[in-house]
Amino acid sequence: MNLESVQKTYKRYAPQYDLLFGAIFHPGRKAVIEDLECRPGEAVLEVGVGTGLSLPLYDRSVRVTGIDISEHMLEVARKRKARLGLDNVDLHVMNAQEMTFPDDSFDKVVAMYVASVVPDPVALVEEMRRVCKPDGQLIFVNHFNSNNPVISRIEKWLEPLANTLGFHPGFSMDEFLARTGLQPQQTIPVNLFGYWQLLRASNDKPARSEAMTEQDIAVAV
Ligand SMILES: C[S@@+](CC[C@H](N)C(=O)[O-])C[C@H]1O[C@@H](n2cnc3c(N)ncnc32)[C@H](O)[C@@H]1O
Repeated sequence: MNLESVQKTYKRYAPQYDLLFGAIFHPGRKAVIEDLECRPGEAVLEVGVGTGLSLPLYDRSVRVTGIDISEHMLEVARKRKARLGLDNVDLHVMNAQEMTFPDDSFDKVVAMYVASVVPDPVALVEEMRRVCKPDGQLIFVNHFNSNNPVISRIEKWLEPLANTLGFHPGFSMDEFLARTGLQPQQTIPVNLFGYWQLLRASNDKPARSEAMTEQDIAVAV
């Protein structure tokens, strides 16, 4: 899947997205936001915020920024923000694999049902790490390839339809963790039959002053 096909697929989904994926994904969204344990004034980034179904679940004291590559999905989110008066929310069309936010901009960065949609999940995680403060939280909720051999075979069989479905049905957690180097502190099954997983990891990158020191050392050497 490339960015163009993601945009095309989610343009098609946008008018019915809430009906198709609102209720079924809701427990996962709720679990993520509870797990964030946000404090007043914290800054949260939601990549691939879609139609903004999660936005009313945040406490209004939390500053939420939502980005999405699909103008059509984001248009629904904008209407929701206006309808519900969500003044704590900012929305932008932006590619999560190449964000324009400065380093260390957010306390927590969230990707709900996005990792198996983006063309490059490694670039997604790298960017989430970059814009998240050191020791901040990175939280994902996603469907991963099932351990059940029958379901797994069906998912692999559906994989060639990824462009039409708008996600990769055979998305492997092992491969995702190995390629991104993410080390989740917690993995919780959520939604129907626990078929989706919530992953929480600490953003264990060096603080900027430490990073500068390492760079200085490298230059000096
Ligand atoms: C399955 S939807 C999830 C929407 C929402 N997070 C939810 O809970 O329903 C995936 C979203 O990711 C967005 N997306 C895919 N690739 C993206 C990218 N590279 N940058 C930003 N958004 C992206 C899609 O446009 C779509 O809105």
